[in-house]
Amino acid sequence: MYEQVHQLRCCGCGAQIKALDSKPDFRCSECGDLYEVEYPGWKSKDGTERPNAGALKWLWRERRASNEPLDRSGVWRFREFLPILEDFNNAVTLFEGNTPLYPLLRISKALGLEQLFAKHQGMNPTGSFKDTGMTSALSMARERGFKWVACASTGNTSAAMAAYAARAGMRSLVLIPQGKIAWGKLAQAMDYGAVTCQLATDFDGCVKVLTRIVKEEPIYLLNSVNPFRLEGQKTPALEIAEAMEWSVPDHLIVPGGNLANSSALGKGFREMKELGLITRIPKISVIQAAGANPLARSFVESDGKSITPVEAKTRATAIRIGNPASWRKAARVIHESGGCCLDVTEAEIAIAKAEIGAEGLGSEPASAVTLAGLKKLVADGRVKKSESVVLLLTGHTLKDADYTIDFHRGTLLEPDEARGHESEIAKLQHNAHVVDATPEAVLKHLKEISE
Ligand code: F0G
Repeated sequence: MYEQVHQLRCCGCGAQIKALDSKPDFRCSECGDLYEVEYPGWKSKDGTERPNAGALKWLWRERRASNEPLDRSGVWRFREFLPILEDFNNAVTLFEGNTPLYPLLRISKALGLEQLFAKHQGMNPTGSFKDTGMTSALSMARERGFKWVACASTGNTSAAMAAYAARAGMRSLVLIPQGKIAWGKLAQAMDYGAVTCQLATDFDGCVKVLTRIVKEEPIYLLNSVNPFRLEGQKTPALEIAEAMEWSVPDHLIVPGGNLANSSALGKGFREMKELGLITRIPKISVIQAAGANPLARSFVESDGKSITPVEAKTRATAIRIGNPASWRKAARVIHESGGCCLDVTEAEIAIAKAEIGAEGLGSEPASAVTLAGLKKLVADGRVKKSESVVLLLTGHTLKDADYTIDFHRGTLLEPDEARGHESEIAKLQHNAHVVDATPEAVLKHLKEISE
């Protein structure tokens, strides 16, 4: 039953295989490209096996009122869109998903936009969007009887994997680039009991080491090359459409690192359209940090047809990735949807992050590239003021508190990086002042700063 419901299709050569036949590194044995999950039943010519759009919408909404553990997950609530497990007792959930879609009131006013929202995936159990993909892929690992799971990570994947593995009673191995991830994320991996190895290399180097290990040992790979991760990560697309009464925004703006998340969300919208849940898909644009911008460069040089890896450098450590695995899938989503890919500077990221903070939401720096990118898209007319926009915020502000504190203390950016943005930055900075422990001193300080 399991194999009739879903199978894997190579994005490069189109080869179709049974899910259980994939190699440990999830690369196609014909061409080396990545797989995507597909659901053959959905393609039946007479439409008899296709899930009914109206019935799905009703069922998914009903489940929101249910107390069943799987219904309370914003991922498993949409299980008709996921690879079916043989036994749902294998599903490992922390009640992820169901994240808020917040209107951004001040930012929309400043940009002159009528409808601007943030889908805050940082409001997931471990504080990032990775939970939505981890619940689906780690459940697969459990069903297949693996005792160990592993990932290479810039921090968030490892935090999510470690938490879900702990819930499932499984062991987890984390490879992270030494000194290049935010402390909050490293702390999570330790707290949830992962075996954490800091390697003297970058993220791309960690991926290489882990790919060798999973080929030799019975360890299940949970990086985003694992197609089952993307199935969970597409569910925020369903939530966005549901929250907008099954219409979609004109634009969805997503940060780009290893480029799996943009691919997953694009797949979610594509599948909803195929099944008649929505009538069009939003333009999906991917924003990278200028110091880690292989896809943005690829769009300038070859319209996204080929990619040259770069040596990545950005303080938005989550997206410090120079050789993104899912670039071909992301390029397809951008082309299909009519979106674009561009990059933003360190100062633009820092300013955007402080503006998201000032809305009472906050995010980690990698998420703020979305707002920095939106400003450019509005300025050059690619986003019109009458259009609706959703920014996908991928991580919680507490993930990288050092970055935030450095920004507000004025120690984050080099003068060269901040040049031209000094007054904008000064207006957003809220340093913590040392004040005498008397009411008079506090009131005096209040008066001084409001002058
Ligand atoms: N935003 C955050 C907060 C992330 O942690 C990541 C990726 C991205 C954006 C980019 O998503 O890779 O799918 O394009 N973090 C990974 C990790 C690589 O290991 O946690 P992507």
